[in-house]
Amino acid sequence: MNLQVVNGNILEFETNCIVVNLFEGVKEPAGATGAVDKALNGAIQRLIASGDFTGEAGKTALLYTNGQIPAERVMIVGLGRRDRFDLEGVRRAAATAARELQKLKGVKTFATIVHGAGIGGLDANAASQAVAEGIILATYRVRKYRRKDDTVALNYALIFESDSNKIAEVEQGVERGEIIARAVCRARDLVSEPPNVLTPGELAARARRIAQEGDMQYAVIGEDEMQQIGMNLILAVSAGSQHEAQFVIMEHAPEGHEGDQPLILVGKGITFDTGGISIKAADEMWRMKNDMGGAATVIATMGAVGRLNLPRRVIGVAVCVENMPDGKSFRPGDIVTGMKGKTAEIISTDAEGRMILADALAYVSRFKPQAVIDLATLTSAIGIALGKQAAGCFSNNDQLQAALLAASERSGERIWPMPMWDEYKEVIRSDMAEVKNSGGRTGGVSTSAKFLEHFVEDYPWAHLDIANVVWTDTARAELPKGATGFGVRLLIDLISQPGSIVGNQ
Ligand code: BES
Ligand code: MN
Ligand code: ZN
Repeated sequence: MNLQVVNGNILEFETNCIVVNLFEGVKEPAGATGAVDKALNGAIQRLIASGDFTGEAGKTALLYTNGQIPAERVMIVGLGRRDRFDLEGVRRAAATAARELQKLKGVKTFATIVHGAGIGGLDANAASQAVAEGIILATYRVRKYRRKDDTVALNYALIFESDSNKIAEVEQGVERGEIIARAVCRARDLVSEPPNVLTPGELAARARRIAQEGDMQYAVIGEDEMQQIGMNLILAVSAGSQHEAQFVIMEHAPEGHEGDQPLILVGKGITFDTGGISIKAADEMWRMKNDMGGAATVIATMGAVGRLNLPRRVIGVAVCVENMPDGKSFRPGDIVTGMKGKTAEIISTDAEGRMILADALAYVSRFKPQAVIDLATLTSAIGIALGKQAAGCFSNNDQLQAALLAASERSGERIWPMPMWDEYKEVIRSDMAEVKNSGGRTGGVSTSAKFLEHFVEDYPWAHLDIANVVWTDTARAELPKGATGFGVRLLIDLISQPGSIVGNQ
């Protein structure tokens, strides 16, 4: 999808379709929608009076203009109730319109107004960002593995602003929205890749390419070096795989911030999770190609941080490993010593994510982090607890958690605080070693976070369990079916906030 900002009157523009909007309950549209209505001799008012269109959020109506204006069609998208309208509403409206237009073979190009920037009263820059994000995110498709794909004609969107005083803001917002949305799509691309293509080595190679583009430092630790520095938990998980594990480190250190304490992002990058010797059921095993969703989000976020050149030192770590059953695999009952000497008893080889993250959380303490945030498709239990509505957030630091919740509120990517009481620690006490890697089904989300906490050192830390939100089986406005790229927008929002993420400590 190509985006272009145009300073002009959308009414005069010749295109396949123009997109305007309507708040719920409005009978006589004003602004751009009102102008279109006039040009069409009251067609929009008649549409409203018919009862067929009310301006409800998520709904659209299509009118053919019969030559009354240069555009062939007009789409009206509902903005919902005005008293509940916000940037998420803008993003959804832009996404809904783009998704509907994508269904029309005759529409290659459309022009849209910036929803919310006029009557909606929102900041033009932020609204334009949301419009760009909505359009790009909603029209994302995976095309790579089909030789011929002519199902969609739509490939060009023009974003109109008639007020020349606002045009610079609109351009800025659209550019930022484009960078962020393309990063989300990149994360989706990585998650969508099949596990025979996206091996740990390939995931590391994709990260290298993204680091190079963003002028970032890149380093990778292979299994020989892992052996030397004692990353035995990662090595145990990787033991059954034919593919070497890769510990990827990307660093964005902008001028003047080279010496800052970094914010560190850590992503679980299990390129395929069979469960290992504790093998999973066959039915839905294919889904476990998305077990590298955390790493995908971290890698794609780093790319956007570089392109936006955000004024903060950020380090991204992706732990890329495949979990396979084999004669060389680790087993239930094994005891493995982590990087800093802590021993873990393996109850299930399917609780592999927390193991690879444990070594990563121990490793990153050498950077003296300001804060560490890990993202992981860690447990199916998080979906039992929260459904698909929000990722789980676990933290040892209230300020970090508050900053994440605020970023979640602004970005529209929902997270929800989950408990970390010490009683959960009892559940993963091992009779043999210092900790065990599974506490069984009950309380499965919190015990997994408590396992991670064992390996966290003296820094503010938050863990986002994204297992329930990394993939969707039903399309919603800005989320087509499949990989969601969850977390990129949340993290970019957080990183873009000025000042320290954990206050003035
Ligand atoms: N990768 C899975 C979690 C998962 C489940 C992600 C569904 C996405 C969708 C993780 O490695 C796993 O297998 N977790 C186990 C933990 C258990 C063995 C303690 C689980 O959730 O069943
Ligand atoms: Mn597993
Ligand atoms: Zn897993």
